[in-house]
Amino acid sequence: MPVSALEFTQELSAHPKPAEERAAILANPGFGDYFTDHTAVIDYKTDETGTGTWQNARIEPYGPIQMDPAAAVLHYGQEIFEGLKAYRHADGSVWTFRPEANAARMNLSARRLALPELPEELFLESLRRLVSVDADWIPEGDGAALYLRPFMIATEAFLGVRPSREVSYRVIASPAGNYFGGELKPVSIWLSTKYARAGIGGTGEAKCGGNYAASLIAQMEGEAHGCKQVLFLDAANDNAVEELGGMNVFFVFKDGSLVTPALSGTILHGITRSSVIQLGRDRGLNVQERKITLDEWRDGVASGDITEVFACGTAAVITPVGELKSETETIGSADAVAGPVTLSIREQLLGVQTGAVEDTHGWLTRL
Ligand code: COI
Repeated sequence: MPVSALEFTQELSAHPKPAEERAAILANPGFGDYFTDHTAVIDYKTDETGTGTWQNARIEPYGPIQMDPAAAVLHYGQEIFEGLKAYRHADGSVWTFRPEANAARMNLSARRLALPELPEELFLESLRRLVSVDADWIPEGDGAALYLRPFMIATEAFLGVRPSREVSYRVIASPAGNYFGGELKPVSIWLSTKYARAGIGGTGEAKCGGNYAASLIAQMEGEAHGCKQVLFLDAANDNAVEELGGMNVFFVFKDGSLVTPALSGTILHGITRSSVIQLGRDRGLNVQERKITLDEWRDGVASGDITEVFACGTAAVITPVGELKSETETIGSADAVAGPVTLSIREQLLGVQTGAVEDTHGWLTRL
């Protein structure tokens, strides 16, 4: 029996960040640098009969995790995570965006990584509890929000390779502005020709730390060429475009099509991605989830058929892509300006999230 959501206990921090320091952080939060005063935790333990139970749900002060050096996560990377945001609306109420989709995706990742599934109600309650104690940490301003990072780690001290019998689910929160820092402007993307992110049957559609670790070497290569993200292709499938290191990608065509790579098993099921698909359909665009190859990207930009490219994700929201660079070519231009479709979908999405635009899809949940 899973623990009831009502059984959360709460220990408040004796040393919360002073209000002045917090205000200075919220004025310029960046991404991922600062953390709130508390964390939500739920333990999972397996008894001698092999029955696992979620237990000891709690809010506690933010701080280091005590873990055995033999904990499975430290050796075999049995870990998954999520990302979503909390927004403060003009009337002071606090909302999050499609959290049940994050709960479902976390369980998809859990199944792939042989971790226990967490009931949706516990997931939602962990967010509610954390945000209610750290509500003063929600930044305001264009694209600013409190980024929530739920994650699950294998904590059993055991070096044999099998699913951990002890797991810790946690949520931390971090005030967030623009993921790429500063003003919204088109980013340069590096095309990884040496490294793959995922393969059929692998972990590509799970949100697990290992996928991101595996993308770092390509990201370093990109940074050496002045790029902030990396594009991964499926080289065995006509160089089909897959996704960026931590974001999905969309193409706007002159004829009114909006194209994004289909979910092939190797691509993350982005919640921003699925929202953009819906918003595109609502405004009469011909939205296609299909294979799009590097050749089509190159030819489409050269002919003018592709007019805009953008990346999307919870952290990135919607970020225009200026150019795609590799050792041998550049597609697009670093001096590109954000296109009208990109900007308009971004404004609409942020508008729904922040309460400025009506939520006709029932995407918001009050925390
Ligand atoms: C998110 O968009 O929430 C992610 O998890 C991407 C990560 C690279 C920050």
